[in-house]
Amino acid sequence: MNTAANPYVPYKVRVEKVTVENDEKDLKTFRFAFCDKADEQKFAHKCGQFAMLHVAGAGEIPIGIASSPLDKGYAEFTVKRYSTGLVTTALHDMAEGDTMGLRGPLGNSFPLENLKGKNLLIVGGGFAFTTLRATIRYLLNDSVRKNYGTITVIYGARSPGELLYKQELSEWQRRSDVATHVTVDKGDASWKGREGFVPAVVSQVAPSSANAHCIVCGPPIMLKFTMPPLLQLGFTPETIITSQERRMSCGIGKCGRCNIGPKYVCKDGPVFTYAQMMEMEKTGS
Ligand SMILES: Cc1cc2nc3c(=O)[nH]c(=O)nc-3n(C[C@H](O)[C@H](O)[C@H](O)COP(=O)(O)OP(=O)(O)OC[C@H]3O[C@@H](n4cnc5c(N)ncnc54)[C@H](O)[C@@H]3O)c2cc1C
Ligand code: FES
Repeated sequence: MNTAANPYVPYKVRVEKVTVENDEKDLKTFRFAFCDKADEQKFAHKCGQFAMLHVAGAGEIPIGIASSPLDKGYAEFTVKRYSTGLVTTALHDMAEGDTMGLRGPLGNSFPLENLKGKNLLIVGGGFAFTTLRATIRYLLNDSVRKNYGTITVIYGARSPGELLYKQELSEWQRRSDVATHVTVDKGDASWKGREGFVPAVVSQVAPSSANAHCIVCGPPIMLKFTMPPLLQLGFTPETIITSQERRMSCGIGKCGRCNIGPKYVCKDGPVFTYAQMMEMEKTGS
């Protein structure tokens, strides 16, 4: 049986590659291959969606999809391990060749189809950058890039050693069709790049809001302080798009675990405009 037949039954996947992303070694990117090739077609996802990762004996958790819909043959997820976290710890113990379950894709996505012809500002902080990485990989594909105006990326981490996807960041910085600004809260002796918090860098870089939308993902504190500079630059609550995280169980709008007011983050989200978020918080839990 597969996910299409029963939404609670995961696809069987094999861990194909594990990449340790950071100095603290608590962020790993897992590349999964589908054990049944037909399942790969059924898993066709959009940027911003998530999936439930199922580790037998430990449980199931929602994780954003970090690979592009155009990456064929695999799906990638970057997972932070919490020392007291049952599933993230079990996942981090998985080795290449091990098998586990994957249920999805779930939730809505960044409205990239509707944003064709627009300039895009993509702002990320910490390990919430995962679905933005999927989005940037997608947008920079030769077949897709021509459909959008300018693309500006601002991404920050606590320290150089905590930056995700270091090789890709360097590649993007070398490209002329994307302006990539990488910052760290505090550099080290070898760091030659920018220092400063993401909200300050947004003000310094000051991308134009003309014909533009912003997709922003990060920890709550970063989001809180990034909204004012974005609004000051002329982005509106309707042109700012973000993604929400809530504790989840079913992931498909059945259990009532993840609601904010009348909305289920798993089904109506996780992607919302800032305008929708403010409305939800007014009526929220
Ligand atoms: C839509 C969505 C997308 C997500 N995408 C990602 C992703 O791409 N990568 C990723 O690493 N995580 C992501 N998360 C968060 C992830 O689901 C949780 O970290 C995970 O469920 C923790 O499971 P656990 O069993 O290891 O921890 P649990 O056993 O559930 O919790 C144990 C302890 O870990 C800590 N903890 C757990 N979750 C969090 C959290 N989110 N923030 C702070 N402390 C926490 C708490 O101290 C908690 O008491 C996403 C969540 C949602 C809803
Ligand atoms: S996780 Fe069950 S309704 Fe959202």
